[in-house]
Amino acid sequence: GSPETRTATGARTGADADVREQQGEYLTTSTGARLHDTDHSLRAGRRGPTLLQDHHLREKITHFDHERIPERVVHARGAGAHGVFVGYGNATNVCKAAFLDEGVTTPVFVRFSTVLGSRGSADTVRDTRGFATKFYTSEGTFDLVGNNIPVFFIQDGIKFPDIIHAAKPHPDREIPQAQSAHDTFWDFVSLHTEATHHVLWNMSDRGIPRSYRMMEGFGVHSFRLVNAEGGTALAKFHWKPKLGVHSLTWEEAQMIGGVDPDFHRRDLYDAIEAGAFPQWELGIQVFPDTPEQTFEGIDLLDSTKIVPEELAPVQPIGVLTLNRNPTNFFAETEQVAFHLGNLVPGIDVTDDPLFQTRLFSYLDTQLSRLGGPNFNQIPINRPHVPVNDMFRDGFHQHAVHRGVAPYKPNTLDGGCPFFAGADTGALVEVPQPVAESVKERRAHVTVDDHFSQARLFYRSMTPVEREHIVRAFTFELGKCYEQAVKERELRVLANVDADLCAKVAQGLGLPAPEPTEVPADVTPSPALSQLGGEWPAD
Ligand code: HEM
Repeated sequence: GSPETRTATGARTGADADVREQQGEYLTTSTGARLHDTDHSLRAGRRGPTLLQDHHLREKITHFDHERIPERVVHARGAGAHGVFVGYGNATNVCKAAFLDEGVTTPVFVRFSTVLGSRGSADTVRDTRGFATKFYTSEGTFDLVGNNIPVFFIQDGIKFPDIIHAAKPHPDREIPQAQSAHDTFWDFVSLHTEATHHVLWNMSDRGIPRSYRMMEGFGVHSFRLVNAEGGTALAKFHWKPKLGVHSLTWEEAQMIGGVDPDFHRRDLYDAIEAGAFPQWELGIQVFPDTPEQTFEGIDLLDSTKIVPEELAPVQPIGVLTLNRNPTNFFAETEQVAFHLGNLVPGIDVTDDPLFQTRLFSYLDTQLSRLGGPNFNQIPINRPHVPVNDMFRDGFHQHAVHRGVAPYKPNTLDGGCPFFAGADTGALVEVPQPVAESVKERRAHVTVDDHFSQARLFYRSMTPVEREHIVRAFTFELGKCYEQAVKERELRVLANVDADLCAKVAQGLGLPAPEPTEVPADVTPSPALSQLGGEWPAD
């Protein structure tokens, strides 16, 4: 691209080969006819009505009328940046992906986001944060679509509309904009107790990050890694910020939300502009790919669970540096489309039903958000490798394809696109046994324990962090109108930690309930019970 310059207003120009500037010296219509006036509409008489024949007026207003596209159904509020990823080369024993090789530099685009608020909502609200990375690798695009919290509310993607409907603003009042301080959210999570672990993280200081630059990121699910010999391992991805993990206090978050709702967006942009490029190390926790797909009793296909780093250390495999701000927010940050199915050789999916549903959902939603099936031709989504997908036509088709429509097998049009050997491409299923052969609709986890990791999380906190969690629950539940909802959530907290429950109950002016009996099929993981030494007798 051309060298970057700045206009008088500070706007960037020419930073990117894909930037299409306004061209030419004169104002024109969209078809290039020169105009002489854009200040006055064409009227029948100086003070008469406006004429339909004024094509320039109609074209200008029509285009303006269609400037907005639908915001993302979740994660609508975000900020993005370009950067590079450099592999350390130490992951090759478990993963053959070329971008992880030593010293390989891969361009990336990262989008950080909140989940619940609309595009114009405030940055510093209590919420989960998205951390989505597009690696434009030499083997195609790899998207790592993660969050700043290592677990999720639900084990099965079929519950996603439920949690989002419960957590988004009430349909009548459209409040609250972006917080969990309302009845339907607490109604859902107090009934659907597998959300408890994620809720504990949300109510902790992790729910109000100081800066996008100071957040961890997690791929959440287990992925299947494949090495050059075809050997497989299960792995979880982690991003570790070089600046460390820092949070706001609740009071700071409240004040900043009022004074500067763009705080995180501004912080990221200003840091990059000042040359203080944020960095993260990418790390993996690696587990043997056993038929049970568990590690130390922890179900690797259950996205409501972590594997503590004490049991499986995070091994750094590369470093990400964000070093360039977007030129145009709409073209890049808004139009970027991440998808878990964008995989490269060496990284594969697992049967985690949350992962499996996500594989469907992102492409589906992007078809309507980005106006049809050709959104991978938008500059920010274009792979940095040749594309020969045999796709044709459709809304916003930019390519002018030659020859006959592609089909295979084919002898009339110079054959069909070349297929790489079956074992070298992406999306190659490593032969895996299917766990069970019975078609059924039931929970996939074998041990449905909703509280022990939430308890582990709470008890791993310092006293001051515990105090923040107590205050967060008290504040958020205090906003509920329904007494029954508050009482039910207190019963959930009683199963997490009696002291936490008692303090929140006190803050709400309600009696603290006793823990309900732990269901008979709940066996605490032996590995977990060794950690922290505080395994409760209940
Ligand atoms: C968007 C993360 C679960 C549906 C996003 C984004 C992130 C993310 C980071 C924002 C992408 C961007 O910046 O453009 C996650 C994580 C999940 C999860 C970490 C669980 C581990 C789900 C599930 C579904 C879902 C279960 C649906 C069944 C969506 C949709 C979008 C989205 C529809 C909007 C995508 C777009 O319009 O481009 N998610 N998500 N997510 N997510 Fe998820």
